[in-house]
Amino acid sequence: MRFDLITIFPEILKALTSYGVTGRAVERGQVEVKGWNPRDYTTDGYRRVDDRPYGGGPGMVMLYEPLKRTIDAVRREQSGAGVTSHLIYLSPQGKPLTQQRASEISKMDGVIMLAGRYEGVDERLIEAEVDEEISIGDYVLSGGELPAMVLMDSIIRLLPGVLGHADSVIEESFSTLGSEILLDYPHYSRPEKVNGEDGVEKVPEVLLSGDHKKIAKWRRIQAENRTTNRRPDLLLHK
Ligand SMILES: C[S@@+](CC[C@H](N)C(=O)[O-])C[C@H]1O[C@@H](n2cnc3c(N)ncnc32)[C@H](O)[C@@H]1O
Repeated sequence: MRFDLITIFPEILKALTSYGVTGRAVERGQVEVKGWNPRDYTTDGYRRVDDRPYGGGPGMVMLYEPLKRTIDAVRREQSGAGVTSHLIYLSPQGKPLTQQRASEISKMDGVIMLAGRYEGVDERLIEAEVDEEISIGDYVLSGGELPAMVLMDSIIRLLPGVLGHADSVIEESFSTLGSEILLDYPHYSRPEKVNGEDGVEKVPEVLLSGDHKKIAKWRRIQAENRTTNRRPDLLLHK
C-alpha cells in the first residue's frame, strides 16, 4: 500500500518509517511512504505556504495554490503507478478515527494525506479536493503530521503479512471481525511471581493450567468485564 503525506515537515516521517512494525513494513517493501513538501510547489522566492486570514483574527492559513499544485503532483505520480487517490485531511473537525475505518482504508491501494499547520487550510481546498476528514480525538494539536502517522500506523499493522502473528489483530481491542466489539483481555508473561518468591503478584492460575478451553473462556470473561467497566458504549454496537 502506498501513503503520500503532504506536510511542511516531511522529515517527521522518519519516526514512522524507521522503527518497529511500521519500519519493518517499509523495509520489506510492504508499504511505501513518501512526504511531499508544499514549499517545493511555491512560485515566490520566500517559498511561502501560509498567509493571514481574510476577515482578520489570529494565526495564519495554509494557502490554496501551493497545496493544490502539490496534490496535483502526487496524483500524477500515483496514477502513473496505477494507484487510486483517496485524499484524507487530518482535522480535529473530522470523523473520529476508529479501528473499523482503519480496516476499511487498509483495503485501498493508497491514500494521500494532508497535514494542516497554523489555523488550518483554506476552506476552498478542502471543499474541492478532500474526500474525507479524519480526527484522532477531541483535542487540538499543532499539526496534522502526528495524526497522519497515527492513521498510517493503525492501517499498516492490519495489512496482510505485516504482523508476525495474524491472530494478533483479530483478538485485539476494537476488533470487529467477530460480531461484537470488545476490549482485549489482560496479558501476563514470565516470571510467575513478581516481588520475589513471597510475592503476592501471581499470574492467574488458569493461564498456567494448559487447558486451552478454560483459558479461552477466562479470557472471554475478562474481555467482557473490562469492556463493561471501561467502555460500556462499545457494547451498544452488538
Ligand atoms: C492548530 S490545528 C488547527 C485547528 C483549527 N483551527 C480548529 O480549531 O479546528 C493545525 C492542524 O493540526 C491538525 N490537527 C490538530 N488537531 C487534530 C486532531 N485532533 N486530529 C487530526 N488532526 C488534527 C490539522 O491538520 C490542523 O489543520
